[in-house]
Amino acid sequence: MRQIVTTANGDIDVLKVQEKPDPTPRNDEVLIKVRAAGLNFADILARQGLYPDAPPKPCVMGYEVSGVVESAGKDVNSSFAGKSVVAMTRFGGQSELVVVKAAQIFEKPEKLTFEQGAAIPVNYLTAYALLIVMGSLHAGESVLIHNAGGGVGLAALDIAKKVGAVTYGTASGSKHQFLKERGLDHPIDYRKQDWQPELQKLTNGRGVDLIIDPIGGGHWKKSYASLRHTGRLGMFGVSTASANGLSGKLKMLKAAIQMPWFQPLALLNKNRGVFGLNLGHMWHEPEKVAVWMRDILRGVEEEWIRPHVDQAFAFDDVGKAHRYMEERKNIGKVVLTPK
Ligand SMILES: NC(=O)c1ccc[n+]([C@@H]2O[C@H](COP(=O)([O-])OP(=O)(O)OC[C@H]3O[C@@H](n4cnc5c(N)ncnc54)[C@H](OP(=O)(O)O)[C@@H]3O)[C@@H](O)[C@H]2O)c1
Repeated sequence: MRQIVTTANGDIDVLKVQEKPDPTPRNDEVLIKVRAAGLNFADILARQGLYPDAPPKPCVMGYEVSGVVESAGKDVNSSFAGKSVVAMTRFGGQSELVVVKAAQIFEKPEKLTFEQGAAIPVNYLTAYALLIVMGSLHAGESVLIHNAGGGVGLAALDIAKKVGAVTYGTASGSKHQFLKERGLDHPIDYRKQDWQPELQKLTNGRGVDLIIDPIGGGHWKKSYASLRHTGRLGMFGVSTASANGLSGKLKMLKAAIQMPWFQPLALLNKNRGVFGLNLGHMWHEPEKVAVWMRDILRGVEEEWIRPHVDQAFAFDDVGKAHRYMEERKNIGKVVLTPK
């Protein structure tokens, strides 16, 4: 089988497609022939050497796939064989074949293409945990989605619309028209203007009930300051540090230095909440994640979950796919296809 190997820290030339022996499923596992694998921002940070959760290099990244079950171990219900599924993978997803525990697979809704199926797990589970589970977003509340045009951003928009919240989103101006068509109420071009005074203007100086912030560092301070009373800040990424080589290391250091410290008494007196999320640290809680996933897949059937794939790149073009995301060209998901 062919796999995308991140051979070392560096620029896109460290990404190689290599031949490896086919894996064999253990008793409680299934073997999936991958039709599409998700590419995530974490894969870029891992290549840059800025993702502490990444396996040691050389490594195969990839948290999610969709494909067809080729065979199953003896303890797995044999009716899975031949089914089209979506699966979460603890790395290794960017391969022609993967083996995963049966508990990590879900039947792919027929409505979705394989590319759309691979766009579901990371983006939608992250957005669901941020908005529904930890952010407790309610109808009539307001939410600011940073980087609303990215994979997680679009997923969060779908969920916020379903909840019935008023939606604010920061994104490059070129993405605004698309975001409005998807239902974003108030796009803000944060690359041309400071989003904070603009948000204050749009909310009559009150701020919003929930902010989800993957930018990190000092940006979390700005987001925290933009909450109204009973507002919550969800922190889930440090994309501000993304860069190759020494520049990335220095940016990560700067982000660490600028991160806010939250005082319990200040939280109490301002009626604010802060929380963090790392979906990659939920592997020991499969039952919880399965409940979220089932709700998301029900949303696909009900058509309020609408995974948007910007582009599918062949494995051989993985470098182009990384560059495309680093240059912020994608709206929604980028996936990789073996052929
Ligand atoms: N904690 C978790 O469990 C978890 C799970 C998934 C993702 N994340 C984090 O969430 C963030 C977004 O992930 P994603 O998969 O949605 O990524 P994505 O699809 O690539 O979208 C990210 C968007 O963020 C904006 N952006 C801001 N700073 C950027 C930078 N330095 N380089 C490139 N783009 C930048 C760009 O939009 P504009 O053109 O509008 O600027 C870009 O399109 C990342 O920080 C990722 O690590 C965390």
